[in-house]
Amino acid sequence: MQRKGTTPATFDLFADEAPQPPAVEQIGPQSYVFRGFALPFIERVLPALESVLSQAPFRHMVTPGGHTMSVALSSCGSFGWTTDRSGYQYTPTNPQTGEPWPALPEVFRELAIAAAEMAGFVDFIPDACLINRYIPGAKMTLHQDKDERGYQWPVVSVSLGLPAMFLFGGHQRSDKTQRVPLFHGDVVVWGGVDRLRFHGVMPVREGSHPQLGEQRINFTFRKAR
Ligand code: SIN
Ligand code: FE2
Repeated sequence: MQRKGTTPATFDLFADEAPQPPAVEQIGPQSYVFRGFALPFIERVLPALESVLSQAPFRHMVTPGGHTMSVALSSCGSFGWTTDRSGYQYTPTNPQTGEPWPALPEVFRELAIAAAEMAGFVDFIPDACLINRYIPGAKMTLHQDKDERGYQWPVVSVSLGLPAMFLFGGHQRSDKTQRVPLFHGDVVVWGGVDRLRFHGVMPVREGSHPQLGEQRINFTFRKAR
């Protein structure tokens, strides 16, 4: 819209846009949200994801406590994360197929390494990527990611599809949590002194995403072994 008079052009350029959140938000001493960081990778990520899922379909796993998770899971990389009545573990093969997990697609690796570097973690080479699917109503209760062998490497989390409210807590389950809304393309990195902080996801709300439909997909990249 062009206005008459002396209004600066920049005013008109941005007048109709909602205020944008900052591109980087620090949520802990060594934790960051990079808004939209995954978007330039999306055109390569989606077909790679489809290929991974055709080899290792999502399934709902049962926790050692006997609960069926509302989130459906798959994995790719050298190790995949599984849970059953006997416990949580990383395995080189998919117990459902007996086959090795699908290889980590090159674009996944690039994205994870670039985000880790932005957060100050150079030389991060992920060997495991957990893929979570949340349909509306699915959630993840507060937990720590502690099944990995070394905690010197960060966790890199990529959000796609429907938005969700990420909860970022402290080192005790009972610590106060920050609420961090995550949108399609956002990447969160936590590591170093923040590596073992409790975190979770509130129930995903009904909705439909133009590219991913009625779901939220989350990748978490880790160095498992
Ligand atoms: C997780 O903690 O493994 C998943 C986090 C998320 O879905 O954002
Ligand atoms: Fe986690």
